[in-house]
Amino acid sequence: MKIAVLGYGTVGRSICKYIEGDSKDIQVAYVLRRPGKATEPFMTEDFDEILNDPSVGIVVDALSGRVDSYDYMKRALLSGKHVVTANKAAVAYGMEELCRIAVDHNVNLKYEATSAGTIPIVAEIVSTTHTNYLSAVYGILNGTTNFIIDKMLTEGSEFDATLKEAQRLGYAEADPTADIGGFDVKNKIIILASTAYHGFVTGDIPVFGIELLTKKILDDYAAKGKTIKLMGISVRKDNDYALGVVPCVIDMDSLEAHVPLNNNIVTIVGDMCGELKFYGQGAGGAPTADALLRDIYSIFNSVNIDVEFQFFRKLNYVPEMLRGAGYIGNDRVEGTLEEIVAEAKRRNEFVAFECPELFKA
Ligand code: HSE
Repeated sequence: MKIAVLGYGTVGRSICKYIEGDSKDIQVAYVLRRPGKATEPFMTEDFDEILNDPSVGIVVDALSGRVDSYDYMKRALLSGKHVVTANKAAVAYGMEELCRIAVDHNVNLKYEATSAGTIPIVAEIVSTTHTNYLSAVYGILNGTTNFIIDKMLTEGSEFDATLKEAQRLGYAEADPTADIGGFDVKNKIIILASTAYHGFVTGDIPVFGIELLTKKILDDYAAKGKTIKLMGISVRKDNDYALGVVPCVIDMDSLEAHVPLNNNIVTIVGDMCGELKFYGQGAGGAPTADALLRDIYSIFNSVNIDVEFQFFRKLNYVPEMLRGAGYIGNDRVEGTLEEIVAEAKRRNEFVAFECPELFKA
């Protein structure tokens, strides 16, 4: 089967390298690059060349920008090609439309690589929902911010220097404000909650990043046997749900507190399985390429997960479902996640959220 890879950054290169070295069944027919960058015979600047080539079965989106990626994915699906993507911003933005087009054109849209790096969380959520009613999905979903928090806590590193190291290691987004501002996690929790709850969730959710986090805040919590992790959290009851992104206070002896470096951990809660936790590298070229390659192979092997057929619920966003306490400076404020994040933003102070039901703090 022939594929076309869009983009030749850390992830695009990893895919090409793997396929050149190891795959007899799959060939890279094209790599789409920006004008002036198509320096090899297999590279093109013209997306129409890919669309018009009937031998290309899968378009693999390894681009970072939302707008181009969304447009290319849509056109590929409309022309009857399968799409495998790592672009969380594009999928979170237009999941409903992309899934509908995929269904209408009888092709796959696979997005494992959008969320939690190499952890097979989309596949596991889809598999678990066959037998479970899922009532929560939450976790550490950003490698860059976990890396920063871990280095600050364990090595006393400076925020800015650690962010630069995360960029050098290929963990951070091209614009790292998406990582530290929580918007990368926002995209991921939207995608995972929609998949878990079988309906498309709103993008209008409370988001608070770690820009205001300091070593002193971490040390003060450590002295109380607690720590902070940036988390995407979502809960659901029947067709009602709530979700958000916020630094969370967790016990130092919890699994989440021990997640180091660029790793992520995602928890799903089901009525039969109870709490299931998935752990692994959440960022980096090879881990993300691995998730894309698994999606490519699942299409190639016709092991179709058919996630696009499962978004049948009309869900209601009910922010009151996520209640807890926010620690803003020296104040403890009770309320919904939405109210607490709004108050912290008004004061421009760091907030750490404690949701007793989720974290049993
Ligand atoms: N910038 C992202 C992260 C990459 O740090 O988690 C993986 O989605």
